[in-house]
Amino acid sequence: MTDAQHDPADGIAFVNGAYVPLALASVPLIDRGFVRSDATYDVAHVWKGRFFRLEDHVERFLASMRGLRMSLAYSGADISEILEECVRRSGLRDAYVQMTCTRGVPPRGTRDPRLCQSRFYAFAQPFVWIANDEQRRDGLRMVISSVARIPPESVDPRIKNFHWLDLTMGIFEAYDRDAVVAVLVDRDGHITEGAGFNVFAVRNGRMATPERGVLEGVTRRTAIELAHEIGVPCEVRTLGADELRDADEIFITSTAGGIMPVTVIDGRNVGAGKPGPLTGRIHDLYWRRHEDGRLCKAVDYEKGRG
Ligand SMILES: Cc1ncc(COP(=O)(O)O)c(C=O)c1O
Repeated sequence: MTDAQHDPADGIAFVNGAYVPLALASVPLIDRGFVRSDATYDVAHVWKGRFFRLEDHVERFLASMRGLRMSLAYSGADISEILEECVRRSGLRDAYVQMTCTRGVPPRGTRDPRLCQSRFYAFAQPFVWIANDEQRRDGLRMVISSVARIPPESVDPRIKNFHWLDLTMGIFEAYDRDAVVAVLVDRDGHITEGAGFNVFAVRNGRMATPERGVLEGVTRRTAIELAHEIGVPCEVRTLGADELRDADEIFITSTAGGIMPVTVIDGRNVGAGKPGPLTGRIHDLYWRRHEDGRLCKAVDYEKGRG
């Protein structure tokens, strides 16, 4: 197939310094990003033609790269521009935008990661939701998984990474147990996070979210900031599994969907079994924040058009 046979709205990627239809983008088979999960990435979103907290995502991406001893010839500003160009070329108004840095391809006959040159890949594709319309309206069914999250002493979850087998097996367990999402515990049985999301519990008007063993989600940060702004106490601390089971409300947060209610946990209703009022409030404020000029950056769809 040629470029002309691809609809840009299906996605545009940036690979090897060039923009190509997402369906044609590829990674060399021996890039350690592919064969060793030796990579870091970040995902931002565009909503109604504007990036949300793009700088925060790019900053976290650069910090993740430093944590893995990777470097690129691109600055943060260059990366932002490449991401915007992917969106511009796709024409998408609502998009899921990923940046990835891999260790790269080792020189022939070696396995020494120091000899690899990091590679940069990016793409914009139509917005991806963790939960469908009905689940976002009525709430998600969650299980506390029997799979423990990879310990943070082994793989630092604050570095966004491709080590997803624990999270993926959690998803299988969720489906086996009549649920759709799973939250994993650490080795002490404390709540961590799930596949692509952070978790919050609400009890007696107070919010809490795990402090350790999690990616410090940009949506999590937004939810914490919103709670402070409306005077709702929000603690970042250890969260026990029983505490989550006994919560009045539970919600999850992700760039891929925002603030999403959980109404069943381990087969039992959370509160009244309906999305709770505080969840609804944070949800509405979160989406309103997407109109706030300080946190958003409009995509210039006309730039470069002649
Ligand atoms: C493991 C994990 N936790 C949490 C999150 C949520 O982070 P953010 O709100 O920045 O999307 C993600 C996002 O993909 C994730 O992969």
